[in-house]
Order: sequence, then structure tokens, then C-alpha cells
Amino acid sequence: MTTPRLFTPLAIRDVTFKNRIVIAPMATYSAVDGIAQDWHLAHLGRFALGGAGCVMVEATAVTDQGRITNGDLGIWSAEHARPLKRIAAFMKQQGTIPAIQLAHAGRKGSMQRPWHGNGALTAEDLARGDKTWPIVSAVAEPMAPGYIVPQALSVADIGQLVQDWAAAAGRAVDAGFEMIEIHNAHGYLAHQFLSPLSNKRNDAYGGDFAGRTRFPLEIAEAVRKAIPKGMPLFLRVSAVDGIDGGWTMDDTVAYAKALKARGVDVIDCSSGGLVGSATAARVKRSWGFQVPYAERVRREAGIMSMAVGLIVEPALAEDILQKEQADLIAIGREALVNPCWPQMAEVALGRAMKDALDGWTVQYGWWLKLRERTIADIRADEAR
Ligand SMILES: Cc1cc2nc3c(=O)[nH]c(=O)nc-3n(C[C@H](O)[C@H](O)[C@H](O)COP(=O)(O)O)c2cc1C
Repeated sequence: MTTPRLFTPLAIRDVTFKNRIVIAPMATYSAVDGIAQDWHLAHLGRFALGGAGCVMVEATAVTDQGRITNGDLGIWSAEHARPLKRIAAFMKQQGTIPAIQLAHAGRKGSMQRPWHGNGALTAEDLARGDKTWPIVSAVAEPMAPGYIVPQALSVADIGQLVQDWAAAAGRAVDAGFEMIEIHNAHGYLAHQFLSPLSNKRNDAYGGDFAGRTRFPLEIAEAVRKAIPKGMPLFLRVSAVDGIDGGWTMDDTVAYAKALKARGVDVIDCSSGGLVGSATAARVKRSWGFQVPYAERVRREAGIMSMAVGLIVEPALAEDILQKEQADLIAIGREALVNPCWPQMAEVALGRAMKDALDGWTVQYGWWLKLRERTIADIRADEAR
């Protein structure tokens, strides 16, 4: 049997991903003052045991102001990096590449956790112990009526934030992460600068494409400089806004070329989120609905891409790679359903369970191999 592409290793700079599966960043809004808890080790630990080539820690704020909710992870101090170091070490020990997504929410900050409504914080949230904080964006316009009005960033503020991103990346490296993803998607700060719908500045950081991409490109450049040369750098975009007059796929291709020139290795292609929650459907959903974005970026910008979004069946993941529509596959919610999705995908794509178990952690694999023999005996009895 030839090895499925999904299980073919991929080397990016000095790091080799043992397979093409990346567990997507998924915010769990369960940090305390930005600090990772036992929850995060257990949650990410499930994925680390599941056989993915890489597991990515959820959106982690580069400054306290950059959190979406009171429960967001942060990495704005050494104290924040400490529990993340333990998590990265555990991931590494389990044979997966430890990765982290760095983020800044901009005008989508100081909000409710999704299950409390995803809106502006209310008196009820404050009674629960949540706090509000002043937020920032490209211009002083809230995401929608009823949300906090952000302060427009000055050029000096932008310069400071670029340094904050670089410092956060440095802390992530010190904590043991081996891949960093910059969050430019879902309507958060960088996206607020990219999209003409939210960036109405008339200085060097707004206006035309060059102006609107200036700050996000400065972030990419600074992060690239702050991490080792051999470390892969990913960047997640919302490939399209899905709103008239917004950011388009042509913009994404041009932006990907500029990112490539600044040392970004992989474009992670998501979509939407400029207005409303990141999950608000502006783009019609279907299996692998965002794959065409990853395909165009890869083909037209000549940079590796990662496909994400409703990729559930291993056969679809394999097909995307076979058709060279993407280089990597990110799995999000299906990994919440089954953290062993990568391990079971290998079996679904043709490897015998008894052999696949060699790749599992010995604490499980050893017993399950015995069980495979028992199951084989039972089946032989049944067939008699
Ligand atoms: C609970 C949850 C939290 C998420 N948090 C993040 C996040 O922190 N950063 C991000 O870029 N995307 C986030 N997303 C989006 C996922 O990374 C992924 O793109 C999306 O769920 C689509 O992939 P899927 O269909 O495989 O779940 C989140 C999604 C879910 C379900």
C-alpha cells in the first residue's frame, strides 16, 4: 500500500511535521487573567495524544488589551509563558509539533464569552466577575451598534504593538513552541486594518492596498525576526470578507505574495468574521468550503497553504492533498468530537489497525494491540 499523502511527512524550514494534519486553534475562553489552567493541558493533551502532526494552541493575546474575552489566553508576560511551557513540552513528548496562534482582538475585545452571548459585556457578566477594558482599532468605530467604541491607534501605538507582537513571539519560542501562527483573520485587529470596510484611516496605515496591509506586514516582519530562522511561520487570513466592498480573494493572493517575501511559510485560509462573531456564516457552508481559497493562494502566490473548515472525512482530506489544493489540513471541531481523528484517519485510509497502533502512545497502543488479536480471534470464531 502506498502511504496516503495525509500521512506523508512535510519539512518546513528545520521542522518536520510527521503528517499533514494540524489541529486548528480553538479558543476555549477558560484562562484566568490570560493564564493557562489545568483545563488547557487536558484539552490540548487530548489532541497531543491523537496523532496529529501539529497541535495549535488557541488564539493567545499578545497584550492584555488584545483579548477577546476575560477567558482568553495571553502571552504578554513571562508569567503567562510559564504554564504554556509545560503544555508545549507535553505536546513535544507525544511527538506532535507544539504550535501557538498569536492574536490581537482589536475592536472585538472586551466581549462576552460565546456561551454568554458573544456581545458587549453586560451587568450580568460584570456580576460574574468579568471586567471591561478600553479597546483599539484602525478607527474609532465599533464593530456594530451597542459594542464598545474603540480608540483609533496612533502611529506611535502601531509601532509599540509591532514590538509587542515580536516580544510575544519571543516568549512563545522560549516556552518551547516550534511553530507560530499569526492571526490575521476573523475580524480581529490585523483584519480590521486589511479590510476597506473597517480601515477608514487616511494616513500611511490606511487607504489603498499598500496602506491597509502596512501594519499587518510590519507584524509579520517583526515576528519573523523574533523567531529562529529554522522555525516555520504560519499566518491565518480570512481569504474573503464575504461582504460587498470588502477584502477579496484577489487581495489575499497579492497579500500572500507580500507575506512570502517577508518569510511567512504557510497561509492558513479561513474566511469571514469582519462583522459579527467569527462563526457568523457570510460564506455558504459545505464540506471543505474554504478549500478553493487554499488552492488559489497556493497556485497563484506560490506559497504553501493550509485548508480548514468542515473537513470531516479522511477521504476528503486525502483528496485535497492529492489534487494539490493545499499542503496541510487543519481539523477543528471534528477533533473535539474525536481527538483521535488523525489516528483513525490513518485506518480509514487503509492501514491495518494492528499496524497503526505502533504509532500510538505505548500506554494505549500496547493494550489495544492485544485487543486487536482478541478481536481477530472472535471474528475467526464467528466465521466458523
Ligand atoms: C470552539 C472554537 C474556537 C475557535 N477558536 C479559534 C481561534 O482561537 N483562532 C482561530 O483562528 N480560529 C478559531 N476557530 C476556528 C477554527 O480554527 C476552524 O477554522 C473552524 O472551526 C473551521 O474548521 P472545522 O470545520 O474543522 O471546525 C474556532 C472554532 C471553534 C469551534
